[in-house]
Amino acid sequence: ASTLGAAAAQSGRYFGAATNSFQLSNSAYTTILNREFNSIVAENEMKWYANEPQQNVFNFSAGDRLVAHARANGMSVRGHTLLWHAQQPGWAQNMSGTALRNVAINHVTQVASHYRGQIHSWDVVNEAFADGGSGARRDSNLQRTGNDWIEAAFRAARAADPGAKLCYNDYNTDGINAKSTGIYNMVRDFKQRGVPIDCVGFQSHLGTTLASDYQANLQRFADLGVDVQITELDVAQGANQASIYERVTRACLAVTRCTGITVWGVWDAASWRDDNPLLFDGNGNKKPAYTSVLNAL
Ligand code: XIL
Repeated sequence: ASTLGAAAAQSGRYFGAATNSFQLSNSAYTTILNREFNSIVAENEMKWYANEPQQNVFNFSAGDRLVAHARANGMSVRGHTLLWHAQQPGWAQNMSGTALRNVAINHVTQVASHYRGQIHSWDVVNEAFADGGSGARRDSNLQRTGNDWIEAAFRAARAADPGAKLCYNDYNTDGINAKSTGIYNMVRDFKQRGVPIDCVGFQSHLGTTLASDYQANLQRFADLGVDVQITELDVAQGANQASIYERVTRACLAVTRCTGITVWGVWDAASWRDDNPLLFDGNGNKKPAYTSVLNAL
């Protein structure tokens, strides 16, 4: 196959990119997006601040444009994200306790219901674990509503959109470490108790090295009975960029339950990072990393 999406599809996987509705009017950009990718995710426009800017006042217009673009071009959609400690609307940042719990669950229900049937996988909860050696939950206004906030969110999402795969998504989980093990223990507990979880997303915002146990870490989650996905891949520009992209791709392909890879943007010009971490340069040219991924798929 000669494109990322078609190459990934040979093994039943998707290859996606994060995008923004305003970028869809750039024809050089959409030429690459539509040619190479068969999945998209909203880089920002499905976040809480974006689609519930005032309490119970929803604005789905940008997200809807992305979903329509996906549908028109035969792409699947990852939903990102229902609940997260960051990029909350100001009105929610100012809330706590039972009141916050109630508006958070209402947010899950309303957003997942709006997109019912149109989302392949939802990042129901994003980045709820702490960095470092504790393996514990991150402190946040949501966490302070009670440790069961994550399972409450997954149950609400399942009720609202029974057809979507429901994912937990996080970063710094690229190898077997305290943080990934904390998440592993949560997923194992959820599976044992019947909390509805289908997948774990590994953001994979990477620097100049890759954990040697990256694939083994994906595999141990898959062995719990969930799918795994690479959800926000980008890799620092440098001598190792192409080889790290290749190793991540090979790791996913080696894990049967690794169902897809998403890069966090199409070209370097639009990356949230300043170290040129994507597969296309600012002029839309394929980088060596692109070729290494295509050949590995
Ligand atoms: C980032 C976006 O790329 C930026 O445009 C925005 O300013 C901040 O958020 N982990 C995530 C993503 O789950 O939502 C973040 O996206 C990058 C880190």
